[in-house]
Amino acid sequence: MKKRIPFICGNWKMNTTVEEGVNLAKALKEQTVSEEVEAVIAPSFLHLYPVKEVVDGSSWKLSAQDMSSEEMGAHTGEVAGEMIQGLEIPYVILGHSEARGRGQSNELLKKKLERAFALGLKPIFCIGEDESVYEEGETISFVLNQLEESLGSIPTEKWKGMLFAYEPIWAIGTGKTASAEDAQKVAKEIRRWIHEKNGKLGEELRILYGGSVKSDNARSILEQEDVDGLLVGGASLKAEEFGKIVGAGVFHE
Ligand code: PGA
Repeated sequence: MKKRIPFICGNWKMNTTVEEGVNLAKALKEQTVSEEVEAVIAPSFLHLYPVKEVVDGSSWKLSAQDMSSEEMGAHTGEVAGEMIQGLEIPYVILGHSEARGRGQSNELLKKKLERAFALGLKPIFCIGEDESVYEEGETISFVLNQLEESLGSIPTEKWKGMLFAYEPIWAIGTGKTASAEDAQKVAKEIRRWIHEKNGKLGEELRILYGGSVKSDNARSILEQEDVDGLLVGGASLKAEEFGKIVGAGVFHE
């Protein structure tokens, strides 16, 4: 058994029309999810409401892919945390490298984290290095700096229920996966960082790996002691494949 309940999240990114997304959600709903894993899907904002109608009453949960750092108001084109909260969606991905690539800084992400905490939303906070940082062997210090700058000064009692997702940028959508050992090495350091801030949360909070996860590598990554789940992009767009990945999170005694 894993120490923490495995959390497997499918990040649909900017994929599928609403109709295709609803059909994908229906296909996922037909698959029974073991109580031993938490299965989540993160469709685009436009999909959240209709997909919620499909999965309500099943074991599938939902996450948003981002949210504004601002309160509800005059911010054309943005989506407020209040809207996510109003739909009773528990999770929100923050700091995905694709969003960081569009200009989201550690400082802005701090504001988003604070906003999410204020609304009772649980962030899935993404961190990860690019290829040059990886090749220089600076991954750990880079990732811990991202954590420190965005989260380090937010009181730890607010962090309850949040998740961390280590996603090396060079592994996202490329077919290159970090080795299970590398994923473990970074997850362990992230856990050590959390532990230093708050020992109890260091034991409790879940750390995910993301980057070219497929049904054939999911299990070996999930077997790592400090990896408590997966953030899955491309492979979450096929119901059968994603169902297998969720199944890889079931550990019997
Ligand atoms: P990928 O994406 O599985 O397609 O590499 C992962 C992610 O970006 O969360």
